[in-house]
Amino acid sequence: MRRSFLIAGMLLLLGTFFTTAQVANYNVIPMPLSIEQGNEKAFVLTKNTKILYPKNNEKMKRNAAFLTDYLKENTGILLKSKAAKSGGNAILLKTGLMSKNSEAYEIEVSPKGIVITGASEAGVFYGIQTLRKSIPVAHTKKVKMPAVKISDAPAFAYRGMMLDVARHFCTVDSVKRWIDMLALHNVNTFHWHLTEDQGWRIEIKKYPRLTEIGSKRTETVIGRNSGKYDGKPHGGFYTQAEAREIVAYAAERYINVVPEIDMPGHMLGALASYPELGCTGGPYQVWRQWGVSDDVLCMGNDKTFEFITDVLNEIMDIFPSKYIHIGGDECPKTNWKKCEKCQARIASLGLKADEHHSAEERLQSYFISYAEKVVNKKGRRMIGWDEILEGGLAPDATVMSWRGMSGGIAAAKMDHDVIMTPNSHLYFDHYQTKETKTEPLAIGGNSPVEKVYSFNPIPAGLNAAQRSRIIGVQANLWTEYVPNFRHAEYMVLPRMAALCEVQWSPSYKKDYENFLKRLPMLVEVYKLHNYNYAKHVLR
Ligand code: ACM
Ligand code: ZN
Repeated sequence: MRRSFLIAGMLLLLGTFFTTAQVANYNVIPMPLSIEQGNEKAFVLTKNTKILYPKNNEKMKRNAAFLTDYLKENTGILLKSKAAKSGGNAILLKTGLMSKNSEAYEIEVSPKGIVITGASEAGVFYGIQTLRKSIPVAHTKKVKMPAVKISDAPAFAYRGMMLDVARHFCTVDSVKRWIDMLALHNVNTFHWHLTEDQGWRIEIKKYPRLTEIGSKRTETVIGRNSGKYDGKPHGGFYTQAEAREIVAYAAERYINVVPEIDMPGHMLGALASYPELGCTGGPYQVWRQWGVSDDVLCMGNDKTFEFITDVLNEIMDIFPSKYIHIGGDECPKTNWKKCEKCQARIASLGLKADEHHSAEERLQSYFISYAEKVVNKKGRRMIGWDEILEGGLAPDATVMSWRGMSGGIAAAKMDHDVIMTPNSHLYFDHYQTKETKTEPLAIGGNSPVEKVYSFNPIPAGLNAAQRSRIIGVQANLWTEYVPNFRHAEYMVLPRMAALCEVQWSPSYKKDYENFLKRLPMLVEVYKLHNYNYAKHVLR
């Protein structure tokens, strides 16, 4: 009798042991380029598995720490890690993969263990992301890892997401949470839109009023410029120390931060602080409503040029990014046409209208080329929205094509680098369903997950050299109608999952139905982190 109790007890124990074992699934988002199932037995990951990384390499040590954290979060299993070149029952992290693509990686799983080999530390990081997404989110004591060889590399080198913190401010902690979300989706560029008509959000030491005055608006319009205001002051800015902290946090996750100072339009934050920089001399107010203001930087005032030189130089001190974004979008020429100083500048520069461009467009082009020289002088490169094509393109500019793809196509044909971010597909401030009545208020548009997924960044009609000018893809979250970070999460998830496959996978690999089958596993990670995601495409 006692004996049968014992056996029953043992069976029960064994039962719980087996039911709690989880099985990895390598069909993650973004889908790896190649997954070859092995014939060998699976590797079984348990708390006795070690993470090994090369010695004297801080980045790899940090990669090991990320993997430790991710595995602990997913499964509860806490692995030990140490510097070592080899070992059994281990996840071995190493660089040295021969590949033209520095972000490439391989994962090999055999009964002895797991090896992640990157073409660089960044490649290893993406291998870790794939491994992390392969392992089910479930408390367990062991994970069965089927034998496999995965080879993977991204299609595009620039994989961006933009966040506008000017219309609505986000705390440093929220920006870090944003960066964690980007890392989960293999996004490697955080385009940080820092200045606007509605608020200037970065400390500039030489111009303290930018944040003392320019970062605050007295109240905000309700709805879509209803004429009614909420009566609540809104503000916030990042000190240079905080911005550097964000840059470092992102860099640890192989994410480059591209700062944007939007000029010469979208400048009311600066004009309210330094009215002499505007054509009329003000007074100006940090805007309480949405839209495009006619009040922009005065091109006739030498101080404007001094101002943007100083601001860009401080920005380049904070941000090590090769790319610096100078905006350039939506700059009405209304005031320049009326302003004596601007007209005197046009005359002294000998700018003339022709059948392609007005004299004022030429003036904008002069200004953007000036900004580019400031950026180039420090060995950096300038990005601008596609309006920088108007009036003639600055010599080394990279064009961010947002009004559809035509600006990008024109720039590629002029041998300029291009980032595709068309508002037809990749504006995540748009609605994500046609059922807008039950959605929180958005700016408009309709860009559901399927439409985002369908985007092909390489337009027809370009030759091979021109196609190679399309260096990347980005989606943008403008925040006029995104009052807080919870709402930002809702607007970008799971559209960011669709985006990341557009950025990472060659178009021939894309398959929307298959993507939808893989999405629930990623959503388990969203749930784990309590991300606020939209559920329209989840069945
Ligand atoms: C933009 O959406 N104004 C670039
Ligand atoms: Zn002027």
